[in-house]
This record gives sequence, C-alpha cells and structure tokens, in this order.
Amino acid sequence: MSNLLVIVAAGSGSRLGRAEPKALVSIGGRPLLSWTLDSVSTVAVDRLVVTAPADRLDAVREIVGARGRVVAGGETRSASVRLGVAALSPENADVVAIHDAARPLVSAAELGAVLAAAGRSGAAIAATPVVDTVKRAAEGQVRATVDRRDLFGAATPQAFRWDLLRRALEGGDATDEAALCEAAGIPVSLVPVSRLAFKITTPEDLELAEAILAARRRRGEAPAMTTRVGIGFDAHPFAAGRELRLGGVAVPHESGLQGHSDGDALLHALTDAILGAAALGTIGDHFPPSDPQWKNADSATFVARAVALARGRGLEVGNVDAVIVAEAPRIAPHAARIRARVAEILGVAEDAVSVRGTSTNGLGFTGRGEGLAANVIVLLVGGESGKSSA
Ligand code: CTP
Ligand code: MG
Repeated sequence: MSNLLVIVAAGSGSRLGRAEPKALVSIGGRPLLSWTLDSVSTVAVDRLVVTAPADRLDAVREIVGARGRVVAGGETRSASVRLGVAALSPENADVVAIHDAARPLVSAAELGAVLAAAGRSGAAIAATPVVDTVKRAAEGQVRATVDRRDLFGAATPQAFRWDLLRRALEGGDATDEAALCEAAGIPVSLVPVSRLAFKITTPEDLELAEAILAARRRRGEAPAMTTRVGIGFDAHPFAAGRELRLGGVAVPHESGLQGHSDGDALLHALTDAILGAAALGTIGDHFPPSDPQWKNADSATFVARAVALARGRGLEVGNVDAVIVAEAPRIAPHAARIRARVAEILGVAEDAVSVRGTSTNGLGFTGRGEGLAANVIVLLVGGESGKSSA
C-alpha cells in the first residue's frame, strides 16, 4: 500500500496580514510549516510534496530539507493542490492525502486515521463537529436556528484512493477536494478529529496556536525554544563619487563607502551577526570579495542568504539592534527608513528592528570623518528539531 502526501503551503495568508507568506510566519521561533511537518512526520508516507509561493521556493526548501520535494503552487488552493498532486507522480499510488500547512496542530495519529479510512472507503476527510448553536441570518437578523447535530466543519487532511481523486480533479475548482468528490458522486467518509485541527487564518488563530505550542513546550511535549545571539562589526572608508548605502537605503551624503559590493557596512555587519549566531562562518566565507559576482552587489542579497542559511538550521531572526558610528551624516533623520527596509529584507516586523547612530565626539577614524562603522547584535530563535537536516 503506497501513501502519498501533498502539503499545500503556497498561500499568501492575506487574512493573517503579515508581510511573510503564512507558511513562513514564525510561531514560537519556528516557521509555521516546520511545525506542520513535524506534527505529521511520524506517519510513513512514500512521497511528500510541498507547494510553496513561487518567489519563496528556496526558503521553503530550507524548511522541508530531505523530507520531500518543493514545487511552486498556483493562484488558488485548488490550483496548488493540482500542481502538488502532479508533482507526486501518483500513477501507481494507492492513496493520496492533502493537508493544509496552515493546520499545524493536526496529529500524526489523525493523519494515519484519515489515510486508513480512505484505504477502506475510497475517500475520507478530517472533520470536527460544530459545537456552537448555528443560526441562519440575513441583514443582521436571525432567520432560523439550524440543527447542528448533523453539521461538521471540514478540515484537512483529506485522503483519496488515487483513481477516485483523479476523477474528482477533472471537475472544476472547489474549496476542498471532498466537494469535488461529492460533485462526482463519490461517497466521502468523515473522520472526527480534535478541534486542534483548526486552520490558522486570522491573527487570533495564530495567537491561539502559539499559546498551545508554548504550553506543550512547558510540558516538554514540543521541542524547546533555543535562542542564539550573534554580533557583527564592519567599517569602511568614505569614497567620493559613490552613493552612501546604509541598511539597504540611500542616505544623502557627500561621499559613499568604499567596498567591493555596494559598501553597505550596516548590512555587512548584520550578515555577519546572523552567520555568527548560527555558527555558520563569516560573510567573507560565503561572499568572497575576490569573487567578481559580488562587485557592486546589493548587500541585501547577503542578508537574505544568511537568513536562509540560519533557517536551514531551524533558526529565525528574533530581533536586531544596530548602532551606526559616524560623525556625519546624522543617522536620526534616516533611521525610520533604514529600519523599515532592514525589517523588509529580514522578513520580520518593524518592531523587531532598532537602528540608531552615534558619534565618537571627534575621536578616531569616525571622528575625523574618514569612515563609518556599524555594530549589530542579533538574536536568533528556534526549536531544536527545526533543523531541516534532522
Ligand atoms: N494555499 C495554496 N495555494 C494558494 C492558496 C492557498 O497552497 N494559492 C494553501 C495555503 O498555503 C494554506 C491552505 O492552502 O496552507 C489553506 O488556505 P488558506 O488558509 O486560505 O491560506 P491563504 O490562502 O494563504 O490565506 P488567505 O486566504 O487568508 O489569503
Ligand atoms: Mg485562501
């Protein structure tokens, strides 16, 4: 009996309202998707495919690691399911299961139960009984009370014998695969699951999941949170005729900073701090100045790569504090812009980033206006089993 699994993680999470796609949003120091993968990891599936936002394939690959393949998803959940299923090469499979990355608290036992039920009956979905009294309403007025005894919320995983899913997918789009089966006249059985199968959709859902995972951590039932601190320092001489780049933005000044890349000392110190916290070497190891591809490079590339490498170790940026040492220009008028851009490059909230300037009151090379220096400290947070190599 061969079981295949698609985890759909290509959505943007518009109702969650974060800059990051939902599957990459950090919960308790780990991306949402890594919790989902861990939750179902003890169920033996023959092949796993994860659908990812097309522009975040590398970030998702760092999280999935050797556990499965990552392919770009589509415009809708349905489109992502089709792309994921196609990438599984399901031709000889018995059962294909589909699961939302956005339901990280579904247990392996529940996935196992849905797979087994689909093996027996052909099509099965995880579902939770509706617990509230249900009203039908219009224009803010209750019109009727609906008998809830036969009402269920459809969740994932949903699993199907491959021949049936293939037939169902010939239909149009739907919000779940069970609806396509129903339309094709294929009977679907229900597997009651815990209400923890809820889908993280809104900010409150995220808070709820975070609280549950924190409680599990306290009881030793979830990987402990690790924190790692890193420090970075960089200094460059001023060079006439170059644009001054700090934290990924242009800062008006009579000269810029010398350097093989764009000379952005703040982003270089930040890259080193992230690599340092993860014990992954130095900026020079990863982006040698002797390599022509980094000539005049946008240093945001270095930061993004360091973040991806840290993520590969199950570590996410918690917060950053940066101090730019310069006699001129004054940093304060530009700090808000720099902070916003650094947060954007890191994919974290702005309140996780602090940027300020200081002078050395005329002392040293910065005091004489010969150059500028940047000090950055960064905290990385993560869970032990977040290591994708594990
Ligand atoms: N999904 C997907 N491809 C899409 C849309 C959704 O793979 N084009 C995935 C999501 O990543 C999620 C699951 O389908 O794991 C359920 O979708 P939903 O909760 O609606 O996620 P989003 O579409 O990302 O959120 P929103 O609707 O709030 O934008
Ligand atoms: Mg959606």
